[in-house]
Amino acid sequence: MSKKILLSGVKPTGAPHIGNYFGAMKQMVDLQNSGNYDCYFMIADYHALNLIQNAETLRDYNINLALDYMAIGLDPKNSTIFKQSDVSAHTELAWIFDSITTMPYLMRAHAFKDAEAKDKEISVGTFNYPMLMAADILLYDVDTVPVGQDQKQHIEYTRDTAQKFNNIFGETFKLPEPFIMKEVSVVSGTDGQKMSKSYKNTIPLFASREEIIKSVMSIVTDSGGDIPANVYNIHKLLRSEDELKSIYDQNKGKYKILKESLIEDLDLFIKPLREKREELSKNVDEIKAILADGASRAKVRADAKLLTVKKNIGVN
Ligand code: ADP
Ligand code: TRP
Repeated sequence: MSKKILLSGVKPTGAPHIGNYFGAMKQMVDLQNSGNYDCYFMIADYHALNLIQNAETLRDYNINLALDYMAIGLDPKNSTIFKQSDVSAHTELAWIFDSITTMPYLMRAHAFKDAEAKDKEISVGTFNYPMLMAADILLYDVDTVPVGQDQKQHIEYTRDTAQKFNNIFGETFKLPEPFIMKEVSVVSGTDGQKMSKSYKNTIPLFASREEIIKSVMSIVTDSGGDIPANVYNIHKLLRSEDELKSIYDQNKGKYKILKESLIEDLDLFIKPLREKREELSKNVDEIKAILADGASRAKVRADAKLLTVKKNIGVN
């Protein structure tokens, strides 16, 4: 029996934080290591272009994300690791989807509505974001897409788009399933809001010890309670509830001690990741070679699927 196909992607928009890791990246590693899937891990650089419009920065972020992927344990020997922009079938299929998709439908997307509510200028690329993401997924006959809770709607858009295409042009695409880890679906930041690069409330995934101390010391502790919720919510990612109960029971109201305990646990968790990344970053040429190899493997599959699509719509 052939393995199920898994694909996921991350936008190269800067250093990842532990929210990205527990919400999305860790699942990618766990699923890869389960041995049950044929895995594709993508660097979504064309999605990032909506945000990053400086060549040097984007080039840098692409390599950095490849390093992040490998440091957390994605393994180019077992998985296909590639850059979206290296496989032109993605943008080509996105155009085809644009042609069967209506504006009102895309206007219902959370990301679009949020941007509009904030009176932000919205690029056409941001508006069409769900169609490029649908192409990313549907080109590979994907079964499973591990993502964070906030990406759920994008998977629904992908499924709808596959269905719509199949209804118009005949059975072509397989409908993918989202894979959302329930317990840690939203990781909270140092201020108690959702951890996000845009809120400046993050703990970087590859933080130095100094950065860990700085972030933890900045955690907002609401005075009054015995258990500082914002400290606890981060701590629970690293230890079981039982272990935490004894630590927090022994140190009721002692915010400084509880923060120090969190610092040690974070450093214990981050240190090996940080060291592996440092090692990998000494050989950037090898990282580039891995991405080139990944792109050529992804292309074989994506191009074959696109050819079927082109036949089905009548341009080939
Ligand atoms: P950010 O909000 O920091 O810009 P992204 O939007 O780039 O993060 O998210 C990248 C991935 O990480 C997505 O799959 C998203 O679901 C996941 N993710 C981001 N922040 C969190 C969080 N606080 N908790 C859980 N998952 C998250
Ligand atoms: N939109 C995803 C995010 O912001 C990134 C992404 C792009 C993706 N294409 C994908 C994730 C395909 C899963 C599958 O996190």
